[in-house]
Amino acid sequence: MAANTYLTGIKPTGDFHLGNYVGAIKPALAASHEYDTYYFIADYHALNTIKDAEELRHSIRSGAATWLACGLDPERTIVYQQSHVPETFELTTVLSALTPKGLMNRAHAYKAARDRNVAAGVTDLDAGINMGLFNYPILMAADILVMEGTHVPVGRDQTQHIEYTADIAGYFNHRFGDAYSFPIPKGVIDDSDASILPGVDGRKMSKSYDNHIPLFLPENKLKKAIRRIPTDSTPVEEPKDPDGSVPFQLLQHFAADDTVADVRKRLQAGGMGWGELKNELFEAVNAEIGPKRERYEELMANPEEIDAILRKGSERARVRARATLDRVRTAIGAA
Ligand code: TRP
Repeated sequence: MAANTYLTGIKPTGDFHLGNYVGAIKPALAASHEYDTYYFIADYHALNTIKDAEELRHSIRSGAATWLACGLDPERTIVYQQSHVPETFELTTVLSALTPKGLMNRAHAYKAARDRNVAAGVTDLDAGINMGLFNYPILMAADILVMEGTHVPVGRDQTQHIEYTADIAGYFNHRFGDAYSFPIPKGVIDDSDASILPGVDGRKMSKSYDNHIPLFLPENKLKKAIRRIPTDSTPVEEPKDPDGSVPFQLLQHFAADDTVADVRKRLQAGGMGWGELKNELFEAVNAEIGPKRERYEELMANPEEIDAILRKGSERARVRARATLDRVRTAIGAA
């Protein structure tokens, strides 16, 4: 077994945006060239929000196709679908028996849902909250532990989930560690400037701020979305501050260094308008994303190809999951 296993789950809800590409997809692809990587579509986590079969099926394929189109190589990385590894759910049951309910009561997502009920004046604080939301952190712990994940690349918002996974692994190891111990996983959180893309309003790009640009917008819509990025009214001839402008910040993530340096000079010298900067930005984004968009559309037109990749990856993932479960069953006395 390799010492380090990088594992992450992709929640297939909603379409990906440029911020996800820069902040999550690109770093995860880079890691796949260095480490043993397991990346999966967390469809049973998505079931908490998606209650329509066609929508879930589409979201699974779209999530997988997005990552594949961006260059995820299913030979190099084990790419799979959470629900196709049933050992995960067996492990969830085992871990539930070891996890104090109080820990779950303190989980951010659950507490936030209750707070919304408080704010709305609803007396039953659990109204509208299903057990899937409550158990979410245990399922996530099982995702990680069933593959003996050691490194978990996630966004900062997932920090508590990783801490919970470490706690839950600790409960198990404390009880049964003589027979079998889970490795304690660590979150890999990349907060570097290189991984944070600003949205059209300058804050971090995020669906919740509604300042995002979808990853696979058709070319003409991408152009329009870039044109609509707010800029100040400095006239074309006047010198401009590149770093204070969102299109320039975005350009730094997509254009080659010499293009960025050249545009910086031209903005500072005066004579380059925001419109021209936006054209440069469109060209740079489209050059990088265009071929991926085509591949995405090709995959979505051939869903059997996506399904076959997920099926094959899930079989490979199950080999590892089964080995873990065998040890767990023996350790707890169920086998
Ligand atoms: N909760 C993660 C998110 O919302 C998705 C996820 C599910 C995950 N299982 C995981 C991430 C296991 C890392 C490891 O983004």
